[in-house]
Parts: sequence; C-alpha cells; structure tokens
Amino acid sequence: MSAFQFRTVPHLIGEPGASSQLGTHIRQQFPAVRRVMLVTDAGFLATGLVDTPLRSLQEAGIEVHVFSDVQADPPEAVVLAAVEQARLFHVELVIGLGGGSSMDVAKLIAVLAPGRQTLGDMYGIGKVQGARLPLVQVPTTAGTGSEVTNISIVTTGATSKMGVVAPQLYADLAILDARLTLRLPPAVTAATGIDAMVHAIEAYTTAHLKNPLSDMLARQALSLLSSNLARVCRNGQDLAARQAMLLGAMLAGQAFSNAPVAAVHALAYPIGGMFHVPHGLSNALVLPHVLRFNLGHATSLYAELAAIVSPQATGSEEARAQALIDALQALAAETGIVRTLREVGIGEADLDGLAEAAMQQTRLLGNNPRSVTLSDARAIYAAAW
Ligand SMILES: NC(=O)c1ccc[n+]([C@@H]2O[C@H](COP(=O)([O-])OP(=O)(O)OC[C@H]3O[C@@H](n4cnc5c(N)ncnc54)[C@H](O)[C@@H]3O)[C@@H](O)[C@H]2O)c1
Ligand SMILES: [Fe+2]
Repeated sequence: MSAFQFRTVPHLIGEPGASSQLGTHIRQQFPAVRRVMLVTDAGFLATGLVDTPLRSLQEAGIEVHVFSDVQADPPEAVVLAAVEQARLFHVELVIGLGGGSSMDVAKLIAVLAPGRQTLGDMYGIGKVQGARLPLVQVPTTAGTGSEVTNISIVTTGATSKMGVVAPQLYADLAILDARLTLRLPPAVTAATGIDAMVHAIEAYTTAHLKNPLSDMLARQALSLLSSNLARVCRNGQDLAARQAMLLGAMLAGQAFSNAPVAAVHALAYPIGGMFHVPHGLSNALVLPHVLRFNLGHATSLYAELAAIVSPQATGSEEARAQALIDALQALAAETGIVRTLREVGIGEADLDGLAEAAMQQTRLLGNNPRSVTLSDARAIYAAAW
C-alpha cells in the first residue's frame, strides 16, 4: 500500500432534527462564543427553515447576525461584503446554513475575518495562513459535501471560477439534518445528488492521492446515493432516504477532499461559469461522456463501482465498466434531469470556447485517469450537446 494522508472534520452529528439544537451544540463546543454570523441565501431563508435553528441559538444566549445575500456560485463581491459585516459585528463564530454556495462563503468569512490576508492571496493550494474563526457547517442540499471539504469555490470576474484549498477550511463541526432538505425541489435534488455521485466516482479513479480511506468512503457514498436518489426525486418527503442522501454526500465529500476530482468537474466549471448552469447540473450533463472517454483507462475501477451501482451486471471487466455508465445514465433519466447542453441554452458555436476554458482547469485535469487534450474536450462537449 502506498503512503497516504487523510484529514476530515473532527465532529460530525447526523440526526434528523439536529439543527433545532444548533444553539446547544455550539454552546457545548464553544462556551465562550456570544456573537455568531449565520450565512445563507435568500432562497433558503424564504423557506422559513432558518427559524428553528435561529431560535435555538437565541435561546442559548447567542446573538446572531444573519447574512442572506449569498448567490449560487458565489461571486467575490458577495464574499467581501460578508467579511465586512462579520468584522463590523465582531463575529466570533461563523455558521454556514445552506447549500455549497453558503457553506463555501462561510469558510472564506472564517479565514478572512481576522484580516491577515486578502482573498486574492488565498487562491490555490495551501495559501491560507494562520488560524480562522470557529466554523460550523449545516448543509441543506445533499450534494457538494462542502461541510467536510477543505475547498471553497468562488466565481471570479464574469465567467471563471477559482478555488481556495487549505486545511483551515475544514469546519469544527458539521450537522446533517435531513429535515432541512425536505423542501428541496426535485430538479435541485437530482442535480446535487448527481454532483455527490461524481465526487465519489472521481475520488475513486483519481490519478493523484487515491487512498484506502477515500476508496472506502467513495464506495459507501455511491451505494447510499445510487439507491436513494430516485426515491427522493419521486418523494421529497421521504425523511429516511433524505438522511441517507445527506450521509452519502458527506462521505463523498470526505473522499474527494483527500483524493481530488478530475475531468468531469474540469469540464463542468466552464458550463457553470459561462452559462450560469448550476454546479450539479453542469456535472450531470458531461458525466456519461467523460466516463465513456475514460473507459479504456479506468476499466477495472469502473467495473468495481459497477458492482455497487449495477450489481446485476455480469461479463468481462469492459462489459461491467460499460454497465456502470449505462446505469448512471438510466438513473439520471429516472430523476427527470435535463440531459443535453442544448437544452440549457448552449449553442454549437459555444463548444470551442467551453473546451478552451476547460483546458485552464489544469489542477483538476491532472487528476483524470486519461489525459485530456483540447480536441478531446471539444469532442466530449460535442457528445454532450
Ligand atoms: N466546497 C466544495 O467542496 C464544493 C464542492 C462542489 C461544489 N461546490 C460549490 O457549491 C456551489 C453549489 O452548491 P449547491 O449545489 O449545494 O447549490 P447552492 O448552494 O448554490 O443552492 C442552490 C439553490 O438551492 C436552494 N436551496 C438550498 N437548499 C434548499 C432547501 N433545503 N430547500 C429549498 N431550496 C434550497 C438555494 O436557495 C439555491 O437557490 C457551487 O458554487 C459549487 O462550485 C463546492
Ligand atoms: Fe462538485
């Protein structure tokens, strides 16, 4: 076995309804904290699901400043505005309560509020210096796994995305409460669930930092996600299936935080950046086409995953690897998710620009089991169109 390292969040709570005890949990772990910032977006705030966790904080004697201006695929300006407010209110702890966008913003507030560095200084791997404010993450989508990852993704300029990757971005506490996800619309449920499945698959086949813990987590994640995704899309109120999806997304997050994602994400980012397609959907659109491109270079690993997603598959390794791709496509169809780039408003003339932008994602492309050239990227987008 090759040498490896593995990190994750030290305290995890998984329990339907746990966010109604948010104040108690924070009080126990951070008894001195009196002023916190709760970071969310206007869409989630409008569901009213913030009220109970908010009340529990207030009942625990904690003053809360709510920042609800997060936008999907958060632009830099939103992060900077939030940091300014955190300083103004002398916030002592940051809570991300929302999807990946809110949790990613919460991470950056926690590292930027102490004021040692600018956001521009932090892009890249391991650039964050010093300690951050205490950080608690409560996901409301079962997708990004951001509650347990060391990554925050920001939209820079008009179309491009950049990442901050640093150990300080691991939260102190993550709470998985499926009650918060019961009203997630089917299309968002499907897209975010497929994003989580991509995290598991790409972690399992990554060319760098593949490790036994990530492998184990990715396999269990894929099992939970593939057996519950259609259920939660059919019946969003299925609490047990929703909790299983949250657990699966978290396990996939732990996996890919230590064994990074690859070409599916590299090709998805420009779709999100240039055409404002949500992150999960961007991944879902290119997923089968990237896997088909990788097939000959990841055959045995895909065959291993087929045993989880499509256990009835038999035959050669190649046949079982193909069965994985077919099963994922069938699952996507069952969720009713959009399947082609043209359906999200992308024209054939846009494919060259997308391919050029994807080639800029060198950090991710380097993890892919097969190297990707510009013409390969163009061909994958054409297949997805
Ligand atoms: N940090 C990481 O490890 C990581 C990994 C993958 C993706 N990301 C980033 O995460 C972001 C995407 O996150 P996301 O897919 O979770 O979506 P999101 O946070 O952008 O939210 C999507 C939409 O769903 C709504 N929503 C969220 N929870 C809801 C609920 N429970 N009920 C009703 N509506 C709800 C929000 O209001 C929003 O309109 C992107 O910026 C992406 O780049 C980060
Ligand atoms: Fe993702």
